[in-house]
Amino acid sequence: MSIKVYVSRDATALSVGAESVARAVEVAAQQRGADIQLVRNGSRGLFWLEPLVEVETPSGRHAYGPVGAADVAELFDAGFLNAAAHRLHLGPTAEIAELASQQRLTFARVGVTDPVSLSDYLAHDGYAGLRQALTMTPAAIVAAVTESGLRGRGGAAFPTGVKWKTVLDQPPQQKYVTCNADEGDSGTFADRMLMEGDPLTLIEGMTIAGVAVGATQGFIYLRVEYPHALRALNEAIAAAYAGGYLGRNILGSDKQFELEVRLGAGAYICGEETSMLESLEGKRGEVRVRPPLPAIKGLFGQPTIVNNVISLATVPVILLQGAEFYKNFGTGKSRGTIPLQLAGNVRRGGLFERAFGVTLRDLVYGYGGGTASGRPVRAVQVGGPLGAYIPESQFDTPVDYEALSASGALLGHGGIVVFDDTVDMAGMARFALEFCAVESCGKCTPCRIGSTRGVELMDRVIANVDRERNLQLVEELCETLLHGSLCGLGGMTPFPVQSALKHFPEDFRKTVV
Ligand SMILES: Cc1cc2nc3c(=O)[nH]c(=O)nc-3n(C[C@H](O)[C@H](O)[C@H](O)COP(=O)(O)O)c2cc1C
Ligand code: SF4
Repeated sequence: MSIKVYVSRDATALSVGAESVARAVEVAAQQRGADIQLVRNGSRGLFWLEPLVEVETPSGRHAYGPVGAADVAELFDAGFLNAAAHRLHLGPTAEIAELASQQRLTFARVGVTDPVSLSDYLAHDGYAGLRQALTMTPAAIVAAVTESGLRGRGGAAFPTGVKWKTVLDQPPQQKYVTCNADEGDSGTFADRMLMEGDPLTLIEGMTIAGVAVGATQGFIYLRVEYPHALRALNEAIAAAYAGGYLGRNILGSDKQFELEVRLGAGAYICGEETSMLESLEGKRGEVRVRPPLPAIKGLFGQPTIVNNVISLATVPVILLQGAEFYKNFGTGKSRGTIPLQLAGNVRRGGLFERAFGVTLRDLVYGYGGGTASGRPVRAVQVGGPLGAYIPESQFDTPVDYEALSASGALLGHGGIVVFDDTVDMAGMARFALEFCAVESCGKCTPCRIGSTRGVELMDRVIANVDRERNLQLVEELCETLLHGSLCGLGGMTPFPVQSALKHFPEDFRKTVV
């Protein structure tokens, strides 16, 4: 029988040479007459170990990494197909400390299965959630999602079940399920990894959403910079159609759900849900005034669910294991687990799914191992480019929506970007305003004009031109953006600026040389 060897097809792994490693594995096996089956899986999310090569043995999977193409012949000669010792041998994959300590619910299959194999998916509990949903009434499905405590993982943390109920409560008509896969936040890649590593989970979650609210059409709005995710999604959608899991009479029921991927051109504002709907309709991505809510009048004016990839991909496990099971993870009003993404100046970057309540310190030092530069950590930015900077002194803050918001931060999509003590916080504050100016959709004045004026003010502060007066104006501008912006882009730009000013005032008063 063939021995299964796994090399990831995930974009991160590919960026560090996984493709040439995969080719080298095939060549080495052929040359030695070894009977192997090469599986291109998703990434386990332990990026410092990529390209990670795994081999299936009677005692489970063993991992080797990071493997270069030049290491492959030596691995074969050392007997890696029998999990033999080698300097790159990491032991049983499941026992790698940073993996073993995670609570993988949404990412349970990522890195484990062949992402586009329906049979592999079915062999790992795939579509069990949909089967369960098909035995339930729409109201009961929505109630289970509400009861689980799942909140939107795209950033706003709105209760998913409440949103679904609003769509369900609209009279029967054409309804839509849309998946927000724009993933514009800096330092985030959970959506990409899920779509590349286990796209059928997202497809299953969207199908359950469709069955729950009576929507027959779904769209995945994917940013064009994700070509590997696009390929995986399209292959997985084709497999789901061929298996009778999409289309008419799903699994012999009277339910129908059609699904396709639409590409966005990669503007940050197109991740804001109403801009995303405009873009999906073929228009310029510009924010819509609310009300009406998309749940009532969304895509093409019809009731529409807009959910993030991770929110939708978490629904199958909730249906399979029950709301109670999911709710038992987490803390306070933040129930379940969250895939946290560590990036920036960090020794061990990657994705770590943990129940809410893990501290920033556990993440940055425990998983991340401190900075890549070896210098002291000075701050992290949590929640994307518009998230607050949190100083090292506050790293005991638990990762949960309320605790972070109490300390003036937000969790957003779960991205944590690490900075060492060489970071210039005045420069970072300027960057936030510049980002807002570049990405503004232009619909409202505080954001369109204010962001540009903010950059000018910061330039004067940094150049020490009438510094205290200009700092005062920056503070006032932040208040205007906070309260006068139509959407979160302008409304959240003050967070990085104000947090940098609050925690690192010395950086704004440096001597100009
Ligand atoms: C400027 C801006 C950018 C956003 N970008 C994204 C994004 O890339 N992906 C995402 O899922 N949500 C993004 N959001 C949040 C969405 O507007 C919306 O809350 C989310 O898609 C709803 O799904 P959820 O409830 O499952 O989180 C963004 C919001 C703002 C204001
Ligand atoms: S805050 Fe900025 S991005 Fe949002 S609607 Fe106003 S101009 Fe557009």
